[in-house]
Amino acid sequence: MGNSTMESKSPAQPERRGFLKGLSAMIIGGIVGIVPFLSGLAVLFDPLRRKSATATGIHVASLNAIPEDGTPRKFTVLASRTDAWNKSPQTPIGAVYLRRTGPKTVQAFNVVCPHAGCFVEFQAAQKSYYCPCHRSAFALNGSIASASPAKRGLDELDVEIKNGAEVWVKFQNFLAGKSEKIPT
Ligand code: FES
Repeated sequence: MGNSTMESKSPAQPERRGFLKGLSAMIIGGIVGIVPFLSGLAVLFDPLRRKSATATGIHVASLNAIPEDGTPRKFTVLASRTDAWNKSPQTPIGAVYLRRTGPKTVQAFNVVCPHAGCFVEFQAAQKSYYCPCHRSAFALNGSIASASPAKRGLDELDVEIKNGAEVWVKFQNFLAGKSEKIPT
Protein backbone atom coordinates (compact mmCIF):
# COMPACT_ATOMS: atom_id res chain seq x y z
CA MET A 1 0.00 0.00 0.00
CA GLY A 2 2.74 2.38 1.10
CA ASN A 3 4.71 1.66 -2.05
CA SER A 4 1.76 2.32 -4.33
CA THR A 5 1.34 5.85 -2.76
CA MET A 6 5.04 6.64 -3.40
CA GLU A 7 4.78 5.46 -7.00
CA SER A 8 1.72 7.62 -7.68
CA LYS A 9 3.43 10.83 -6.33
CA SER A 10 6.89 10.54 -7.88
CA PRO A 11 5.97 11.25 -11.56
CA ALA A 12 4.08 14.42 -10.52
CA GLN A 13 7.07 16.07 -8.77
CA PRO A 14 9.30 16.62 -11.84
CA GLU A 15 6.27 18.02 -13.67
CA ARG A 16 5.65 20.49 -10.88
CA ARG A 17 9.32 21.47 -10.72
CA GLY A 18 9.28 22.05 -14.48
CA PHE A 19 6.20 24.21 -14.19
CA LEU A 20 7.74 26.32 -11.40
CA LYS A 21 10.98 26.68 -13.39
CA GLY A 22 9.03 27.84 -16.42
CA LEU A 23 7.01 30.29 -14.35
CA SER A 24 10.08 31.86 -12.73
CA ALA A 25 11.81 32.11 -16.13
CA MET A 26 8.77 33.96 -17.47
CA ILE A 27 8.74 36.36 -14.51
CA ILE A 28 12.48 37.08 -14.74
CA GLY A 29 12.27 37.41 -18.51
CA GLY A 30 9.39 39.84 -18.13
CA ILE A 31 11.31 41.99 -15.63
CA VAL A 32 14.47 41.97 -17.77
CA GLY A 33 12.47 42.93 -20.85
CA ILE A 34 10.34 45.64 -19.32
CA VAL A 35 13.21 47.71 -17.86
CA PRO A 36 14.76 48.68 -21.23
CA PHE A 37 11.27 49.05 -22.68
CA LEU A 38 10.26 51.58 -20.00
CA SER A 39 13.52 53.49 -20.23
CA GLY A 40 13.05 53.59 -24.02
CA LEU A 41 9.61 55.10 -23.57
CA ALA A 42 11.03 57.68 -21.17
CA VAL A 43 13.63 58.75 -23.74
CA LEU A 44 11.12 58.81 -26.58
CA PHE A 45 8.54 60.91 -24.82
CA ASP A 46 10.88 63.28 -23.04
CA PRO A 47 10.65 66.55 -25.03
CA LEU A 48 13.87 67.84 -23.47
CA ARG A 49 15.78 64.85 -24.86
CA ARG A 50 14.29 65.38 -28.30
CA LYS A 51 15.25 69.03 -28.33
CA SER A 52 18.75 68.45 -26.98
CA ALA A 53 20.42 68.32 -30.42
CA THR A 54 19.26 71.81 -31.29
CA ALA A 55 19.64 73.19 -27.75
CA THR A 56 23.35 72.40 -27.67
CA GLY A 57 23.87 73.80 -31.16
CA ILE A 58 24.48 72.39 -34.60
CA HIS A 59 27.66 72.66 -36.64
CA VAL A 60 26.33 74.53 -39.66
CA ALA A 61 29.38 75.77 -41.56
CA SER A 62 33.05 76.57 -41.37
CA LEU A 63 34.00 80.18 -40.80
CA ASN A 64 35.90 80.44 -44.08
CA ALA A 65 32.72 79.53 -46.03
CA ILE A 66 31.15 82.87 -45.01
CA PRO A 67 32.18 85.90 -47.11
CA GLU A 68 34.61 88.17 -45.28
CA ASP A 69 32.96 91.32 -46.67
CA GLY A 70 29.81 90.80 -44.53
CA THR A 71 27.59 89.49 -47.33
CA PRO A 72 25.16 86.92 -45.88
CA ARG A 73 25.23 83.35 -47.17
CA LYS A 74 22.48 80.80 -46.81
CA PHE A 75 23.23 77.39 -45.27
CA THR A 76 21.04 74.35 -44.78
CA VAL A 77 20.82 73.11 -41.19
CA LEU A 78 21.14 69.34 -40.91
CA ALA A 79 20.39 67.22 -37.88
CA SER A 80 19.84 63.58 -37.09
CA ARG A 81 16.96 62.53 -34.90
CA THR A 82 17.74 60.07 -32.13
CA ASP A 83 15.11 58.17 -30.23
CA ALA A 84 15.17 55.09 -28.03
CA TRP A 85 15.64 52.71 -30.95
CA ASN A 86 17.07 54.56 -33.91
CA LYS A 87 19.45 57.25 -34.99
CA SER A 88 18.24 58.56 -38.32
CA PRO A 89 20.69 59.91 -40.92
CA GLN A 90 21.14 63.68 -41.08
CA THR A 91 18.23 65.46 -42.74
CA PRO A 92 17.51 69.17 -43.35
CA ILE A 93 15.56 70.78 -40.51
CA GLY A 94 15.78 74.37 -41.73
CA ALA A 95 18.14 76.99 -43.08
CA VAL A 96 19.94 80.07 -41.84
CA TYR A 97 21.65 83.14 -43.21
CA LEU A 98 25.12 83.60 -41.74
CA ARG A 99 27.04 86.83 -42.05
CA ARG A 100 30.30 87.95 -40.60
CA THR A 101 30.20 90.90 -38.25
CA GLY A 102 33.94 90.64 -37.56
CA PRO A 103 36.90 88.35 -38.29
CA LYS A 104 35.70 85.84 -35.66
CA THR A 105 32.10 86.87 -35.13
CA VAL A 106 29.04 85.73 -37.04
CA GLN A 107 25.37 86.69 -36.98
CA ALA A 108 22.71 84.06 -37.81
CA PHE A 109 19.10 84.49 -38.90
CA ASN A 110 16.45 81.86 -39.46
CA VAL A 111 15.39 82.14 -43.13
CA VAL A 112 11.72 81.85 -42.19
CA CYS A 113 9.82 85.12 -42.49
CA PRO A 114 8.33 86.11 -39.11
CA HIS A 115 5.17 87.36 -40.84
CA ALA A 116 3.62 84.10 -42.06
CA GLY A 117 6.39 81.59 -42.61
CA CYS A 118 7.62 82.06 -46.20
CA PHE A 119 11.36 82.05 -46.88
CA VAL A 120 13.16 85.37 -47.14
CA GLU A 121 15.71 86.01 -49.87
CA PHE A 122 18.85 88.06 -49.61
CA GLN A 123 18.97 90.74 -52.30
CA ALA A 124 22.60 91.65 -52.87
CA ALA A 125 21.83 94.83 -54.86
CA GLN A 126 19.67 96.27 -52.06
CA LYS A 127 21.80 94.73 -49.32
CA SER A 128 18.64 93.61 -47.56
CA TYR A 129 16.39 90.61 -47.08
CA TYR A 130 13.06 90.45 -48.85
CA CYS A 131 10.05 88.18 -48.47
CA PRO A 132 8.20 87.68 -51.77
CA CYS A 133 4.95 86.52 -50.14
CA HIS A 134 3.72 89.85 -48.74
CA ARG A 135 6.72 92.08 -49.37
CA SER A 136 8.29 92.35 -45.95
CA ALA A 137 11.82 93.74 -46.04
CA PHE A 138 14.59 93.47 -43.48
CA ALA A 139 17.90 95.29 -43.15
CA LEU A 140 21.24 93.50 -43.16
CA ASN A 141 21.14 93.37 -39.36
CA GLY A 142 17.69 91.74 -39.45
CA SER A 143 15.69 94.77 -38.36
CA ILE A 144 12.34 95.26 -40.02
CA ALA A 145 11.89 97.90 -42.70
CA SER A 146 8.97 100.25 -42.36
CA ALA A 147 5.77 99.40 -44.28
CA SER A 148 6.41 95.67 -43.88
CA PRO A 149 3.52 93.51 -42.72
CA ALA A 150 5.83 91.46 -40.47
CA LYS A 151 5.54 92.43 -36.80
CA ARG A 152 9.16 91.76 -35.85
CA GLY A 153 12.59 91.57 -37.43
CA LEU A 154 14.25 88.38 -38.63
CA ASP A 155 14.70 85.77 -35.92
CA GLU A 156 18.29 85.94 -34.78
CA LEU A 157 19.85 82.71 -33.46
CA ASP A 158 22.70 82.18 -30.99
CA VAL A 159 26.03 81.45 -32.61
CA GLU A 160 29.22 80.00 -31.18
CA ILE A 161 32.57 79.68 -32.95
CA LYS A 162 34.24 76.47 -31.84
CA ASN A 163 37.83 75.39 -32.45
CA GLY A 164 38.51 78.74 -34.10
CA ALA A 165 36.71 77.87 -37.34
CA GLU A 166 33.47 75.96 -36.77
CA VAL A 167 30.20 77.91 -36.78
CA TRP A 168 27.66 76.33 -34.42
CA VAL A 169 24.09 77.62 -34.33
CA LYS A 170 21.37 77.00 -31.76
CA PHE A 171 18.72 76.42 -34.37
CA GLN A 172 15.15 77.29 -33.42
CA ASN A 173 11.86 78.12 -35.08
CA PHE A 174 9.50 80.76 -33.71
CA LEU A 175 5.79 81.43 -34.05
CA ALA A 176 4.96 83.56 -37.07
CA GLY A 177 2.68 86.58 -36.87
CA LYS A 178 3.70 87.67 -33.34
CA SER A 179 5.65 90.72 -32.32
CA GLU A 180 7.70 88.66 -29.80
CA LYS A 181 9.90 85.64 -30.50
CA ILE A 182 8.01 82.63 -29.14
CA PRO A 183 9.86 79.34 -29.69
CA THR A 184 7.76 76.56 -31.25
S1 FES B 1 5.25 85.66 -45.12
FE1 FES B 1 6.79 87.08 -45.44
S2 FES B 1 5.79 88.92 -45.71
FE2 FES B 1 4.21 87.51 -45.35
